[in-house]
Amino acid sequence: MVSNLRTFLYPVLFLLSLHTASAQAIAFDPREATIASTHHSLYTGLATCREVVSSFLSRIEALNNHTNAILSLNPHALDLADQYDARLKANNGSFGPLFCIPTLLKDNYDTADIPTTGGNLALAHSRPSVDAPATAALKKAGAIILGKANLHELALEGLSVSSLGGQTIDPYDSSRTPGGSSGGTGASVAASFAVWGTGTDTVNSLRSPASANSLFSCRPTRGLISRTGIIPISYTQDVIGPIARCVEDVATALTVMASIGFDAADNATALVPSGIRGFDYAASLSQGSLKGLRLGLIEGFFNRTASSETTPVNDAMAQLTAKLRGAGATVVSITDSLYNATAIAALDTQRYEYRELMDAYLQRPSLKGQHPDTLNELYATPPGEFLVIPSQYEYVTTALVSSTGNQTWEAKPSYDALQHGLRNLTLALQETFTKQKLDALIYPEQKNLVVPIGSPSQSGRNGILAALTGSPVVTVPVGFSPATATAPEGVPIGMEILGLPWTDGLLLQIAHEMQEKLGRVRKTPGWAKEVVGVKAYAGGVPTVTPNRGNIPPAYPIGVL
Ligand SMILES: *[C@@H]1O[C@H](CO)[C@@H](O)[C@H](O)[C@H]1NC(C)=O
Ligand SMILES: *[C@@H]1O[C@H](CO)[C@@H](O)[C@H](O)[C@H]1NC(C)=O
Ligand SMILES: *[C@@H]1O[C@H](CO)[C@@H](O)[C@H](O)[C@H]1NC(C)=O
Ligand SMILES: *[C@@H]1O[C@H](CO)[C@@H](O)[C@H](O)[C@H]1NC(C)=O
Ligand SMILES: *[C@@H]1O[C@H](CO)[C@@H](O)[C@H](O)[C@H]1NC(C)=O
Ligand SMILES: *[C@@H]1O[C@H](CO)[C@@H](O)[C@H](O)[C@H]1NC(C)=O
Ligand SMILES: *[C@@H]1O[C@H](CO)[C@@H](O)[C@H](O)[C@H]1NC(C)=O
Repeated sequence: MVSNLRTFLYPVLFLLSLHTASAQAIAFDPREATIASTHHSLYTGLATCREVVSSFLSRIEALNNHTNAILSLNPHALDLADQYDARLKANNGSFGPLFCIPTLLKDNYDTADIPTTGGNLALAHSRPSVDAPATAALKKAGAIILGKANLHELALEGLSVSSLGGQTIDPYDSSRTPGGSSGGTGASVAASFAVWGTGTDTVNSLRSPASANSLFSCRPTRGLISRTGIIPISYTQDVIGPIARCVEDVATALTVMASIGFDAADNATALVPSGIRGFDYAASLSQGSLKGLRLGLIEGFFNRTASSETTPVNDAMAQLTAKLRGAGATVVSITDSLYNATAIAALDTQRYEYRELMDAYLQRPSLKGQHPDTLNELYATPPGEFLVIPSQYEYVTTALVSSTGNQTWEAKPSYDALQHGLRNLTLALQETFTKQKLDALIYPEQKNLVVPIGSPSQSGRNGILAALTGSPVVTVPVGFSPATATAPEGVPIGMEILGLPWTDGLLLQIAHEMQEKLGRVRKTPGWAKEVVGVKAYAGGVPTVTPNRGNIPPAYPIGVL
């Protein structure tokens, strides 16, 4: 595993600078650290949990201004680290799979001890009093929640700008967005502000940030992980999952998140087949092979018009396809006109499902603090508490008056007709797999490079197919565009590997084989290579203030 070796081959000594002249060297490198390399340092006594956590906090404090990815830090992170150090010292009990692993949550995961805002000013004082089951599962597995990451406001677009957190900047290209909506998580993980982080995905949001930040992610099969306690958008399309720098960490985190199992409050979790319940995605990771795989390349998910935005994507995919063939996989072209992301998007259910779900989220008795009680209230008064993004405008105004029982988006079909269309699409997808004897479909996450800051929308993304059919996708880095003045390493390019429901394990095995056999793709953003001195934090966890001053003028606040 390249990413682990890196830490062992170049053991850098980090100065732990105390307030006095005395200083202490620690032998843990947070840059590109993995769960395995972090556990190696902890279990061999090279570093304490406090040192591990402090090294990431120090990076956030020193470097967050490059990317503006962090919304808030967990004031209890170091206390928990101290408790874990006491347990390590006493060799007290078994340590969970995420023991002392610094983790960032997208700020739409309910946390009882840190604010949960969706990046929305109107929810700045909203305070869940109960952890989301996913948050609780991560804590139980030993994860240290370092804080919350910025997101596209309420996860409604892919630009990763919010009224509470400002614009998150792509760590590889200071002129571009980091994808979204989980862009704060993507940027943070790319910059080694944590070992890994969580995202949510209603259309593209676990995949677009992975693609734009040279990371791996899993959009799990719908139903695998309970969505209770996550700020909702769509019952049909929402899922949650991990984003990390290597496949191993995605698999470990996915296993922990899926361990919630059946949750009566999210009936989609009843769909999990018995063979999948309790499955360990990390244990089976190396059981795959590229030899003999049949992969379908969706031709309709490319933009073949040559340009500086599209050609790098097409070139990276062509090179990758050649490598896959060289490794013994069969890649077949899928030319069915059904696979047109723009046409498929007509079946999007968000406009119909959003208001009912959001009203229910806001009206839970466990939600404390000052907050609106309905979606309409959130967007009504007082003004000036949310962003109006051009691409979001029609969507939100429609959601305010539509529900699953009626709709006012006149040009479009009724909710029932949509559900019918979705069943038809899901069957057509299944048919493609069966007819072509496929193991998975592959295509670029985005037909073009991730869009510049100030763009009206995150155009060209292909996430809608998995979102509407509930299919699992593992996203992998496949290349970079040529370097430019604002992007010294180039802009990352990612690929989706889509499978039939409950083949998440197979997709992770394919991604693992690609990581191990086709050569390392991921690069560290230039500025994130900096070695940051580790502070002692005797006074506790620092506070980080998001830069709201960098919201592009194209996004007015509160004029809906
Ligand atoms: C971030 O802060 C550091 C240290 O103050 C400074 O050197 C750097 O230029 C800043 N970067 C940005 C993008 O503001
Ligand atoms: C050991 O673990 C138990 C239960 O997990 C806990 O109650 C106890 O305080 C721990 N002891 C130390 C030294 O951490
Ligand atoms: C599942 O939950 C959704 C959302 O709460 C609800 O609309 C639907 O009726 C439920 N279906 C069943 C079969 O319980
Ligand atoms: C395809 O890419 C070209 C060049 O970047 C762009 O002008 C065009 O709008 C894109 N087409 C679509 C359908 O997105
Ligand atoms: C894809 O669908 C859109 C919207 O229905 C349509 O305008 C476009 O021509 C289609 N593209 C292709 C290549 O058929
Ligand atoms: C749709 O139904 C909701 C109640 O479920 C109602 O508040 C709303 O006004 C209705 N919209 C239209 C356009 O009838
Ligand atoms: C079902 O899908 C097929 C294949 O895409 C399409 O030709 C057909 O029109 C669809 N039927 C309905 C009722 O949506």
